[in-house]
Amino acid sequence: DKAGHKHFMAKEIAEQPVVLSDALAAYLTGDGIALPDPGVDFSRIDRLTMVACGTAFYACFTAKYWFEQLAGLPVEVDIASEFRYREPPVLPGTTALFVSQSGETADTLAALRYCKNKADRILSVVNVAESSIARESDLALPIHAGVEVGVASTKAFTCQLNVLLLLAIKAAEDRGRLSAEDRDAMLAALRTLPGVMNAALARDNAFEHIARQLSEARDILFLGRGLMYPLALEGALKLKEISYIHAEAYASGELKHGPIALIDKTVPVVVMAPRDRLFEKTVSNMQEVMARGGKVVLITDAKGAEIAGQDVWHVIQMPEVPEILTPLLYALPAQLLAYHTAIAKGTDVDQPRNLAKSVTVE
Ligand code: M6R
Repeated sequence: DKAGHKHFMAKEIAEQPVVLSDALAAYLTGDGIALPDPGVDFSRIDRLTMVACGTAFYACFTAKYWFEQLAGLPVEVDIASEFRYREPPVLPGTTALFVSQSGETADTLAALRYCKNKADRILSVVNVAESSIARESDLALPIHAGVEVGVASTKAFTCQLNVLLLLAIKAAEDRGRLSAEDRDAMLAALRTLPGVMNAALARDNAFEHIARQLSEARDILFLGRGLMYPLALEGALKLKEISYIHAEAYASGELKHGPIALIDKTVPVVVMAPRDRLFEKTVSNMQEVMARGGKVVLITDAKGAEIAGQDVWHVIQMPEVPEILTPLLYALPAQLLAYHTAIAKGTDVDQPRNLAKSVTVE
């Protein structure tokens, strides 16, 4: 049931504020963050190894920034198909964490099995509670996204980010890096996010016009720094998956090391840049793109638009949120750009060619 939407993907994008509220209600009971028993004590963990595929991998990659910055916890992230065959050493003190919407992805499950009897503990972040990955973990944390039908993962991504952010905040607290007051301030901000997401989704029609123009491109680049780098990767994946336009993401700082050679007026560049600590640096990369005729779609907040929005091709304005919450919010414009571009191209949005919802063979 598409609940009045043209596609499951549109429905699932629109549902994000509601499912995020549900997920928060499940994890924020009483005082602070409540994990299912027996919980996790991050003060006893030396390092975290996170493994997944596709969009779930980009959720892990985002979480690396959170765990390292908030909790000072060393994190290694890897895509499951590489991890399992590389057979990396898993040292004592390691907790292994697997993220999967379906809980059945073959490579992720194989990576989990590889870590058994090597890692101290196996955690998973899943949408399907009865899945193989959930069953074979010591502790499975549900993301509460509800059934996701669209092949392109949307609400599962933001709900994965939500659980991973809660874990990172808990890790910061367990490791003595975050006071109860600061934790409460973060959680209070997180509780306002569903409302903020609604405001961002209400600007949906701004995307159609931009998407029609993007649909004529052969190649599109995505740029971001810090927390926006994994988001840029996710935005490019989403776009290529359903619109079949070649899209690639780079960390903005890598531009000079190669990809800038691609820039001309035929290559749109989507720059994801909330006004965070790295904003000025990203903007200077953006100006390098514009100086070479590149057409920039800048996704930023009101202050960012005021500072850097003058000569860009298009600005997509997002509400302002604390820096740690930007990945959850900026996932929405990435999804909407992909969705509307695919619509403009007339592709099968919910069932793109060559792809399966759950990849149970490697
Ligand atoms: O079910 P999983 O989360 O393990 O699936 C992982 C990937 O196959 C999945 O995220 C895929 O990349 C999506 N189609 C992306 O939209």
